[in-house]
Amino acid sequence: MRVAIGSDHAGFALKEKIKGFLLEFGCEIHDFGTHSEEPSVDYPDYGFKVGESVASGQSERGILICGSGIGMSIVANKIPGVYGALCNDPTTARLSRLHNNSNVLILGGRILHEEAAREIVKIWLETPFEGGRHVARFKKIESYESQMATFTPRPNGNPLIILDHPLIQHKVGIIRDKNTSVKEFRELVQEIAGLMVYEITRALSLEETEVETPINRTKVLTLSGKKLAIVPILRAGLGMVEGILRLIPNAKVGHIGLYRDPETLLPVEYYCKLPGDIEERDIFILDPMLATGGSSAAAIDLIKKRGGRKITLVCLISAPEGVALVHRNHPEVPIFTAALDSHLNDHGYIVPGLGDAGDRLFGTK
Ligand code: PRP
Ligand code: URA
Repeated sequence: MRVAIGSDHAGFALKEKIKGFLLEFGCEIHDFGTHSEEPSVDYPDYGFKVGESVASGQSERGILICGSGIGMSIVANKIPGVYGALCNDPTTARLSRLHNNSNVLILGGRILHEEAAREIVKIWLETPFEGGRHVARFKKIESYESQMATFTPRPNGNPLIILDHPLIQHKVGIIRDKNTSVKEFRELVQEIAGLMVYEITRALSLEETEVETPINRTKVLTLSGKKLAIVPILRAGLGMVEGILRLIPNAKVGHIGLYRDPETLLPVEYYCKLPGDIEERDIFILDPMLATGGSSAAAIDLIKKRGGRKITLVCLISAPEGVALVHRNHPEVPIFTAALDSHLNDHGYIVPGLGDAGDRLFGTK
């Protein structure tokens, strides 16, 4: 298990002991500091780093230690996707896993002795989430987070950007409706993709040039010869292409063919054709659905293998599981999405989602 760990100066001594326990328990450790008892440091600086590592999927669990555990607890629980539990005895450690599915353990370095901390960490690592009645409660927390998340930049170049513009949200509402016709669904997917172009191209660079208006000569801004590529994942990504090309008509278009094996939910590759100079281009991968994340992560792998470097993923509806997988495998790839939904069902479909995007676009159900 990959465990991120961090402390302030007051938790440093216990952190070092806990690192020894984690190695004994076979964990891989990512130590975010601090690295000494002196000087006095600010616990939020370390709490946010560890929390972000867990929320982005880079680490499976996190452990934070400050003097009492209280400051770190407040910090950790500010981060969507972190379920931090301040545990100073084995019982609360066990219950925080069984009932609350905690993914960050917070300890008081000035409260706990070494042996008690060892016991707490061991129990916390080994106890599974009990599920059952606790799932619905946990999902309510996740769903609240999804509703609150409008723009969630993640540090270290690892952003999830949710486009909450009212026009986009209105149209997403219509494509979710199972009674929306194939024709309307297709038109709306193009329109939403088109509206998303404003944000996904926000980082394009501009240069100054001059033009003659009917009145005088003036300086204007122009895109500085950027080379763009859009790469839809077949089939459903095709539904977004025209909407995007309408605004950036000079972009080259690559295609990646992947389908999800219905049994394993793993992506199966069947086609890949990219612009020859893909390594020079800003690449936008298009797929309406980011579910387990397997297809998108595989598409990013394929593009990287062919030399692609500057990659952005553009989706309409994403599940937290897919976001976490892409962030874990490709932490530098930003994800733009029109909605972050609650979770995946047992068949790997996004809940509430919109069903099978390919079937709804092409009327193949
Ligand atoms: C859908 C969708 C994504 C993939 C998402 O494609 O368009 O590519 O599922 O799921 P994942 O995140 O779990 O990989 P599908 O496999 O249904 O193929 P299709 O577009 O050809 O119908
Ligand atoms: N693919 C889809 O088209 N829809 C989902 O909900 C999940 C994967």
